[in-house]
Amino acid sequence: MFTIKYQQMRDPKHDVIVIGLADKGPYRQSIEEIDKALKGHLKELKKQRQLSTKHGEITKIFTLGLLKAKTVYVIGLGQAKQLDRTKLRHLIAKVGRQLRKDKITDVGFYIDTFLVEHMNTEDIGFVIGETIALSTYDVTKYKEKSNAIEQKLSYVSLYGLDLEQGEKSTFTGQVFGQGTNYARDLINLPGNLLTPSDLADESRKLAERHGFELDILEQGDMEQLGMGALLAVSAGSNQPPKMIVLKYQGQKQWNEVIGLVGKGVTFDSGGLSLKSRENMHKMKMDMGGAAAVLGAMDIIGTLKPTVNVVVVIPATENVINGSALKPGDVIRAMNGKTIEVKNTDAEGRLILADGMTFAKQLGANYLIDVATLTGAVLVALGDCMTGAVSNNAELKDSILEAASETDEGVWFFPNAKPYREMLKTSEVADLNNAPGRLAGSITAGLFVGEFAEGSPWVHLDIAGTAWRETASDDGPAGGTGVMVRTLAKTVLNFEED
Ligand code: BES
Ligand code: ZN
Ligand code: ZN
Repeated sequence: MFTIKYQQMRDPKHDVIVIGLADKGPYRQSIEEIDKALKGHLKELKKQRQLSTKHGEITKIFTLGLLKAKTVYVIGLGQAKQLDRTKLRHLIAKVGRQLRKDKITDVGFYIDTFLVEHMNTEDIGFVIGETIALSTYDVTKYKEKSNAIEQKLSYVSLYGLDLEQGEKSTFTGQVFGQGTNYARDLINLPGNLLTPSDLADESRKLAERHGFELDILEQGDMEQLGMGALLAVSAGSNQPPKMIVLKYQGQKQWNEVIGLVGKGVTFDSGGLSLKSRENMHKMKMDMGGAAAVLGAMDIIGTLKPTVNVVVVIPATENVINGSALKPGDVIRAMNGKTIEVKNTDAEGRLILADGMTFAKQLGANYLIDVATLTGAVLVALGDCMTGAVSNNAELKDSILEAASETDEGVWFFPNAKPYREMLKTSEVADLNNAPGRLAGSITAGLFVGEFAEGSPWVHLDIAGTAWRETASDDGPAGGTGVMVRTLAKTVLNFEED
C-alpha cells in the first residue's frame, strides 16, 4: 500500500519521475521544464532516436544531478489521438512493473503529460491509482528467505493540473486496486492455510474494518435451515463448513438489495469423482468467487455507496472421508428441490444452490453469483474472458457496462430452454448436477439459476480467469482478483439509478 501525495513543486525529489511522451508531442509545460533542466537532452535524445515514443516503450534517463529526481522514466504514448482508458491502463501497468523490477519506493507522475483529448485528469488519476496498485503486487512466498524484506513502493506523488480532481480519483483507483489485491491474497493462500474457518475469520476482519454486519452459520444452523446441498458437499471433510454472511446497508430501507454469492470451496479434490493428479494442486483457487465478492466488499466498505448489499459465501472443502458424498446420492437443497449427484466434482453448483436460496431469504432481490465453476469455460473462452449467463436483460447490461469500464472481459452464453431441460434429466430427482460434457458452462450456470427462482440474476464463471499461469504487466502469476472491480462497479452504478 502506498501513500498518495499531491505536490505543486517544481523540481521534486524522487527516485523516479514518470512522464508520457507522444509521437508528435504535444510538449506539456512540465516536459519543457524537465527538458530545460536536462539541458535539452530530452529532445536531443528523441531526435537521435534514442528515446522511443512507441506505445508502451520505456526509456530510462539518468539525470546525473541535473534534476533532484535520480531517474526519469519516459513512457511512449504512441499516437496521442488513439490513447484511451484501456490503452492507458496497459501503459501504466508497464510503468508499475518496471518500478517493481527496479525496487523503486518513491515515484512522481506528471499526470499532465498523459492528458489527451478524450481523457481528463480524473480518468488519468484513477487509472494511475488502480494500475500501480495492481502492477506492483507481490505474491507472499513461504521460503526461508522471504520477500517480506524486499522494498515496496511507498509513495506515489502526482504533479500536473486539476490536482483536486486528480487527488480523489487516484485514491478511488487505489481502493479498486487494493480490493483486487486483497482477493489475490486470499486466492493465493494454499488450502491448508485457508480453510473454511480461516475464510470466516478473514470475513470477520473485513467486517470489523468496515463496520459490516456479520453472521457466520455453523453446521448446526445449516442442519436446522435444511441446507442439504452445502452439507452434502462438506460431509466428506473434517473441516467444519461455514455459511458466511456480510451485510452492508447503504439505504434507510432494506428493500432493494443486491446479493453477491461467492463459491467458497477452499480446496476441490473432486470428492469421490476424484480429479486427476496433474493439476489438483491448483484447486486451492476454488474459492476465487468468495475472494471476488470479499474484494468487492472491501471497495464498497471504503466508498460507501447508497446501495444495500448482502454477501453470502457457502464455504467448504470438497475432499473425501468415510462420510463423503457419493455419485448417485440424492440430496435435498434448502429450497426443497432434490438433486441427483451424478458427479461429486460438480460441487460448486450444489453449495451455490443453498447460497442463492439463503441470499433470497435475507432479502436479496438481485442476485449475482461468482464461481470458479467449470473447466469447460476455459475450453470455450480461454483465460481472458469470464463466462456468464443470466435470466434478466437489465442486470446483464449493468454487468456488461461495469465490465467495459473496468476492462475485465465478460461474455454471456445463451440461456435457452434446451439447456435448462438438460438439467431435468435425472430419473429420480428434480435436478441432475452433471448432465454431461456438452455446453458444460451453460448448464452449470443455469443449474445455479434454478435457485434464483425468477429474481434477476447473473452468473459469472471465473474458472478460466481467476488464475494466471504466467505474470502479466498488471500482476504476477497466481490469483488475478478478477471480477472484484466489475462487481464493485456494478454495485456503485446502482447508486446512480
Ligand atoms: N472447481 C472446478 C472447476 C475448475 C476447473 C475451476 C478448472 C478452476 C479451473 C469445478 O468444481 C469442477 O470440478 N467442475 C467440473 C464439472 C463437471 C464434473 C460437470 C468440471 O469442470 O470438470
Ligand atoms: Zn469440482
Ligand atoms: Zn470446484
